[in-house]
Amino acid sequence: MFGRKPVAPAPQPTPSPAPAAPAPPEPALTPAPAPEAAPNPAPANPAPAAPAPAPEQRKQFGAAPAAAAPLAMAQAAAVPITPQAPRSRRRGEQTIVRSPHYNAARQYVFSTLNISSVLTRTRDQVRGDIELLVGELVHRDRLPISQPEQQQIISEILNDMFGVGPIEPLLQDESISDIMVNGPDQVYVERRGRLELTPLKFRDNDHLINVVQRIAASVGRRVDESSPMVDARLADGSRVNVVMPPLALDGVMLSIRKFAKRKLSLPALAGQGSMSLGMSRLLQIAATARLNIVISGGTGSGKTTLLNALSQYIDAGERIVTIEDSAELQLQQPHVVRLETRPPSIEGTNAVHQGDLLRNALRMRPDRIILGETRGAEAFDVLQAMNTGHDGSMTTLHANTPRDALIRLESMVMMANANLPLYSIRRQVASAIHLIVQVERMRDGARRVTHIVEIAGMEGDVIVTQELFRFNYSASSYGASVQGSFDSTGLRPLFTDRARIYGLDTQLLEACRL
Ligand SMILES: Nc1ncnc2c1ncn2[C@@H]1O[C@H](COP(=O)(O)OP(=O)(O)OP(=O)(O)O)[C@@H](O)[C@H]1O
Ligand SMILES: [Mg+2]
Repeated sequence: MFGRKPVAPAPQPTPSPAPAAPAPPEPALTPAPAPEAAPNPAPANPAPAAPAPAPEQRKQFGAAPAAAAPLAMAQAAAVPITPQAPRSRRRGEQTIVRSPHYNAARQYVFSTLNISSVLTRTRDQVRGDIELLVGELVHRDRLPISQPEQQQIISEILNDMFGVGPIEPLLQDESISDIMVNGPDQVYVERRGRLELTPLKFRDNDHLINVVQRIAASVGRRVDESSPMVDARLADGSRVNVVMPPLALDGVMLSIRKFAKRKLSLPALAGQGSMSLGMSRLLQIAATARLNIVISGGTGSGKTTLLNALSQYIDAGERIVTIEDSAELQLQQPHVVRLETRPPSIEGTNAVHQGDLLRNALRMRPDRIILGETRGAEAFDVLQAMNTGHDGSMTTLHANTPRDALIRLESMVMMANANLPLYSIRRQVASAIHLIVQVERMRDGARRVTHIVEIAGMEGDVIVTQELFRFNYSASSYGASVQGSFDSTGLRPLFTDRARIYGLDTQLLEACRL
């Protein structure tokens, strides 16, 4: 029945001219020659894929309920071949075999649907059409497809047309923070700070290229061999990076930092062991008392998350300007101006850098400026802004210790202003920044605040710092789990007088005793 179904040849899709339009269905619409392997939802099971099931087996699978958890659904939707499987089984076959009827339904939809009408409509608007077509096919060919399976097929077709294909369910899974696609056959996720290989695969390289081109097009950019590196953002705010061959040697590399729907507050971070209660209270007071704060840490150590949490203590009456390369900050205040940089055009022109936006922001009467990440020439402008009456400004930067953060700032300023003497750069740094908060992703996958350090000023030509809190590893800390304690140094914060202006000095001293 299914095998005998005559499939009309798919029309060659017209490439989407509009940048924001969903990409056309992938060219690989020809009948899939792949054997339809029985899906194996257990990712760790390296058993080779079963041979093509007999029609009865197909029926059984077709009737399987699809109402599973998102990831489980995704796993069921993919060929369960793990890297341990024999190479010959992983190469050259059509990989995504969701259901014995998926390919037929997809072909029928793509050959019948008016593609140009899809380009101008939303996913929800197109869903109705696809439901009709799939229903029509099921009825016409009497396909033994249950209602849940029909819905799953419809969602998968929509994911291929509008979403990010097989990895779409990973975007819905809130326990996943990062998705890393290394070519069509390898999809990793980060869950609770640890990497996991999923059994998901793209159909082939073209399928993956189609998805990344659609993501790039949705933010008005293109990604191809001539422009092989792109930063973009998904509709839900997730941050995306794509590197294509020839820069990436093993195919298209797609990295997605998921947009955290759950906003972590400082008390929540303390509650889950990312810092002590005293540290969270001190940081609340520092943000309220308008300290200039630098959050320092390695990649993915939780800098932006902490910046978001700190920003919750900014007064609702203040005018805040945020500047980012890719908007990730989620400020709750009513008066926020969000600015985003612009990458260069394909001719290498018209780029707008963070420094440009910072200088512009100074003319916008900001009460506070928040720079998503300081990574280059804009460091000089950040220090200028902090030194010129925009107290309470915050930024993040990549460094492994608070000391390194100062050195990085110095060298970033020096690179942009080679003529400035080191001493005056240090003076600027010392007078601009009040607090450095160091975060770290530790080997157990947890993110912790490891240091809170105040800048005390200059002694000779050296910047003097005073540590208020630090995470001390316990001597018996070994193996996969990390043990230690957040300890106060017991020193009186230098910003106690400033906290007094806000009526928070007593609370501050109490926080340092916690
Ligand atoms: N304290 C925390 N507890 C649990 N999850 C966290 C914590 N901090 C950050 N995360 C999660 O870790 C991931 C990385 O966090 P975040 O984006 O804040 O890191 P980052 O240091 O800004 O990364 P990058 O260097 O890429 O900008 C996010 O998915 C976030 O939800
Ligand atoms: Mg970040």
